[in-house]
Amino acid sequence: MTYNPTLMLSSPHSDTQSPQPAKPRVVIVGPGAMGCLHAGLLGRMPHLQVGLLDHRPDRAKLISNQGVIIEAPEGSYTVPTQCSANPDDFGTADLVIIFTKAYDTAAAAEHAEPLVSEDTAILTLQNGLGNYEVLQKYFPDEQVLAGTTASGATLLGDGRVRQAGLGKIVLGSPAGNHELAQRVAELLQSAGLAVQVTEDVDGLLWRKVLINCAINPLTALTRRCNGELLEIPVLRELLDEVAEEVYEVGQVAGVEWGNFAPGQEVKQVCQATATNQSSMLQDVLAGRRTEIDYITGAVVAAAQQHGVAAPLCQCLTALVKGLALRHG
Ligand code: PAF
Repeated sequence: MTYNPTLMLSSPHSDTQSPQPAKPRVVIVGPGAMGCLHAGLLGRMPHLQVGLLDHRPDRAKLISNQGVIIEAPEGSYTVPTQCSANPDDFGTADLVIIFTKAYDTAAAAEHAEPLVSEDTAILTLQNGLGNYEVLQKYFPDEQVLAGTTASGATLLGDGRVRQAGLGKIVLGSPAGNHELAQRVAELLQSAGLAVQVTEDVDGLLWRKVLINCAINPLTALTRRCNGELLEIPVLRELLDEVAEEVYEVGQVAGVEWGNFAPGQEVKQVCQATATNQSSMLQDVLAGRRTEIDYITGAVVAAAQQHGVAAPLCQCLTALVKGLALRHG
């Protein structure tokens, strides 16, 4: 796809000597599975300048030397990638995409501050509830976008991921800056990604968190792939019950679910991602802290705030928090 200069989010970095408009600069924060996948998907496009911000200088150096390696179903490829732990190495960005774990959002925002000018869009595509609210504490509300991605990836090593499936990104502006959401969507589409814009960001995030509440703790606790949850009748039933509970809490919290059928949607995702290890299972297997506080934990908090109970989410939160993790 050819570069379209109208995709710039801000005015091109001005250079009166050169007729060439500067390429849009995208910096991805967090070299985990999804961060590396997107650094590779965007970084292979010659019309974009893509960088990866890490907090670990040793890993950043390794990734800069080897590039991001994507094991895709059609074969492996390497994308040379500028990865640094120093945000000043990138200059200001047109788009910053936050892909850290939800518990690192505040640290990521602080680290990314030098990348952000008044023309920068900051987009969170992380799992869980509460991420865009944290970003709004660091950046102007109208520059913060939030969304979800249906893509899956497994981190195989530093800078190396297995692409599990490419799904749609849906994003929007919680502050109602729909024009910025549209421009960011076009920028991502120019890299061949499937992107849709929504005006109901909270509804979007609750739909995703409902799916994560059902799939992630059950896969992490049973150490099973997403698809296996459908094969065991008691787990299949539990998927339905958790989905129904989150649906009801969301309803009390003001989510407009429309014709979203909770159990059915969860089962469809299990089917579509049958061989995936959920991100929470990957965390548990690697001995890492999980995002449970931002998934079922966030639903329990919303339930308490509205004076209703969420016993299944409460129980799953406790069980996952009770797992013995090496780095948890
Ligand atoms: O967190 C994850 O793993 C993913 O969001 C999902 C949708 C559960 C698929 O594995």
